[in-house]
Amino acid sequence: MSTIEIKKIIKAIETSDGAGVKLKRSIGTQDASYIDPFLMLDEFGSENKDDYVSGFPSHPHRGIETVTYMLEGKFEHQDSTGAKGIMKPGDVQWMKTGRGIIHSEMPAMSDGKLLGFQLWINMPAELKLNKPEYFYFKKKDLGFYNNEDMEVKIIAGKFKNIEGPEKKHNVEPIYFHIILNKGKEFKCSVPPGHNSFIYLLVGDLKIGSDEKSKTSDSNLILLEKGNTLVVKANKKSEFLFIAGKPIGEKIARGGPFVMNTKEEINQAIEDYQNGTFAKY
Ligand code: FE2
Repeated sequence: MSTIEIKKIIKAIETSDGAGVKLKRSIGTQDASYIDPFLMLDEFGSENKDDYVSGFPSHPHRGIETVTYMLEGKFEHQDSTGAKGIMKPGDVQWMKTGRGIIHSEMPAMSDGKLLGFQLWINMPAELKLNKPEYFYFKKKDLGFYNNEDMEVKIIAGKFKNIEGPEKKHNVEPIYFHIILNKGKEFKCSVPPGHNSFIYLLVGDLKIGSDEKSKTSDSNLILLEKGNTLVVKANKKSEFLFIAGKPIGEKIARGGPFVMNTKEEINQAIEDYQNGTFAKY
């Protein structure tokens, strides 16, 4: 058994995307451009409507999965498969774009607090040109475990035999949202080949054998490989734990398209320009 240790701290960078939505990007930055299979992680949101009201108008994606987890506020999404809906706090949208999807993500609120996450997961070459698949999990569909020490929401993976709704996935993802009370310990097993990280929202954690605690919000704590994660809370803490099996293929990026070669990126741009992009 090997306990998972800290590899590197990645400070999120404040940036904006879509039509000017303020966000904090941790994966997908110069410091951490690709943590196979994860291509990007954004924390979006603000208490000021001017920071989010313009939303993410219509844009394409190819070759990736986008996983959106809403914690506060409401977002309306629409896409080229005809899917449409309003995401509410606690809901998850897991979209496998395959060969192409065109969608918009717009706030369904005119004021108040917005908080959410978007994670991009790479797709292997053999799945990149599949027909898009779209999954929507309401708050009540997530796995849920609690005792006097903690509360764990399970989007993917298994904790104490409670399984999240995203199953039979090629990268065997783990996606937990954990609230851990002061002085308590969270422990879970992780497949030894997986890349993993903790995204600390609030609190103060001690991870593995590291004596120094990790504090402050919006820090991504990249972890070494291993098979047991042990986290202690020095004060009440809230964090995401995310892990996945590396795909191990070379990638080529072109904004919202992630393929294996530059030629495939050029093909995606050409398909988008000539209107054949989202034809299945
Ligand atoms: Fe998008």
